[in-house]
Amino acid sequence: MNKRPYIVCHMLTSLDGRIAGDFLETERTSFFSKKYEEIHQQYECKAWICGRVTMEKHFTFGHRLELGDENIPAIPRTDYVADRAADAYAIAVDPSGKLGWTQNYIAEDDDRYGHHIVEVLTEQVADAYLAHLKNLGISYIFGGKTDLNFTVVAEKLKRLFSIDKLLLEGGGKINSSFLNEGLIDEISLVLIPVIDGAADALTLFEANASPRKINPVDFDFKSVENLGDGGLWIKYVQKP
Ligand SMILES: NC(=O)c1ccc[n+]([C@@H]2O[C@H](COP(=O)([O-])OP(=O)(O)OC[C@H]3O[C@@H](n4cnc5c(N)ncnc54)[C@H](OP(=O)(O)O)[C@@H]3O)[C@@H](O)[C@H]2O)c1
Repeated sequence: MNKRPYIVCHMLTSLDGRIAGDFLETERTSFFSKKYEEIHQQYECKAWICGRVTMEKHFTFGHRLELGDENIPAIPRTDYVADRAADAYAIAVDPSGKLGWTQNYIAEDDDRYGHHIVEVLTEQVADAYLAHLKNLGISYIFGGKTDLNFTVVAEKLKRLFSIDKLLLEGGGKINSSFLNEGLIDEISLVLIPVIDGAADALTLFEANASPRKINPVDFDFKSVENLGDGGLWIKYVQKP
């Protein structure tokens, strides 16, 4: 039996592989963003995972917590499962505990409303942040002492939350980290017929994440679907 979930990297990109930029703000793109969300639902995964920057941009909106360190007893660095039987999980890769959650579920998004939050941390996180998560009833797991090991994280997600299928939904840095560890089984791309071309726009896989990728990863074509208005939904699976 597989020790980790089947992992699908589901992303929306321009023709030049950009995942952020002005093209995301246009009316034309909003049609494809809806398609992206519909496909997310279609996968029927009970969990999705994003990097800290993406979570901040779309869900906590940069909110920072004011947590004093005084009178906080040391909290052991052991995983904390607040809800083992949630209908859906929103998993945030937040190594040092920066995300300013104010409740233990996604509240800012109609499609993902109510999804239980799970924080992925390193042991460097402050006790005050752990106390805050526990107070709110947010689950957390540790992925390493100072650096994250996503194989360990994926196995814990399966073991502790019974997650069999996981949607990896960016940004580029976390995608790259999963790719480096050979953890991407399938790629699901919503390809928008637009070229952004900005010099500094993020791409699907940002190789500056650590550790750097060493070998190319091969994928096989699985399917393609016309989404209308020139957009495509393309799926690839990792070559065995
Ligand atoms: N088009 C799409 O489908 C799509 C989907 C998702 C996101 N996006 C866009 O992508 C952009 C964000 O992408 P991004 O690449 O800058 O950020 P990201 O992957 O969302 O988050 C990066 C952060 O996550 C943590 N992290 C990720 N990998 C890590 C690792 N291996 N070890 C330790 N920490 C790790 C770090 O947090 P700390 O900095 O706290 O250490 C890191 O700075 C946003 O503009 C968002 O809107 C687009």
